[in-house]
Amino acid sequence: MNFLTLSDIDKDSLWEILRRAKSLKELRTQGISRLDVLSGKIIALIFEKPSTRTRLSFETAILELNGNSIFMGPGEVGLGKREAICDVARTVSRYVHGVVVRTFAHKNLVEFADNATVPVINALTDEFHPCQALADVFTIWERFESLDRVRVCFIGDGNNVLNSLLLASSIFGFKLDVVTPKTQRPAREVLDKASDLSLRYNGRVVFEVLDNFDSLGTYDVVYTDVWVSMGQEAQAELKLKDFKGYQLNSSMLERLGNPVVMHCLPAHRGQEITDEVIDGPRSVVFDQAENRMHVQKALLEYIWRR
Ligand code: CP
Ligand code: NVA
Repeated sequence: MNFLTLSDIDKDSLWEILRRAKSLKELRTQGISRLDVLSGKIIALIFEKPSTRTRLSFETAILELNGNSIFMGPGEVGLGKREAICDVARTVSRYVHGVVVRTFAHKNLVEFADNATVPVINALTDEFHPCQALADVFTIWERFESLDRVRVCFIGDGNNVLNSLLLASSIFGFKLDVVTPKTQRPAREVLDKASDLSLRYNGRVVFEVLDNFDSLGTYDVVYTDVWVSMGQEAQAELKLKDFKGYQLNSSMLERLGNPVVMHCLPAHRGQEITDEVIDGPRSVVFDQAENRMHVQKALLEYIWRR
């Protein structure tokens, strides 16, 4: 099985992964981190963009599950450039037992997965970041001990991280109010997919996308992400103009009722978030980063147990 977006795994199984991640986190604090889940398995990491958290959390998770990983970084594989995506996927499937891929267009990841004969996990595309969102859901659950009563506000860019949070909100039922500039709203297809999931799992649409701050209320959580994502450096000047007024600073935090602060990291301090807020008492950004590892361990176990 593949994990390309959150909806590749049904809600009950996602909950099973979250509960297992909780146990794995507890076991690790008791010094039990080695588990015989991936013995004899080799997982390749093919990353076409830089990474700190995703690479390290996956490599640590794989090692602690007694598997081995092989990392191939930006400039090495050249998906669709050095070689056709289908040829890479078929070749890699002859060597390893699974592949974790970080790339640009999500359709390239889908093409890779369609041609691979081993499980493929999305480690971030331009459109989705499901491992991040699943760890974020875990962090919210850990903090509030429930999900369906939690109110989350996302202020920022309508791409990969927000798209996956929209699917997470729709599956798990937490309220998500989103404010983006009109030019940076999530794509129609993503909103349609999230609406379908939300109706299926909650009987109503639990998220709302706004283009101004007027209708915002108070929240349990506020989440933001960079304004210029990896690969968008050429658009930086234009995007920075669009995001004027969207900074998560102390006065914005107060206006939102002093919620818990989340950020997937890396952060561009002084742009989308101030030092005061990211380093402040409401910030859980390093819990989020840590939880990537626990949740991915549970995800790897779920995939390879089947
Ligand atoms: N949050 C996240 O995916 O971080 P990296 O880009 O460092 O992997
Ligand atoms: N939106 C960011 C997320 C990084 C984890 C990016 O794509 O660069």
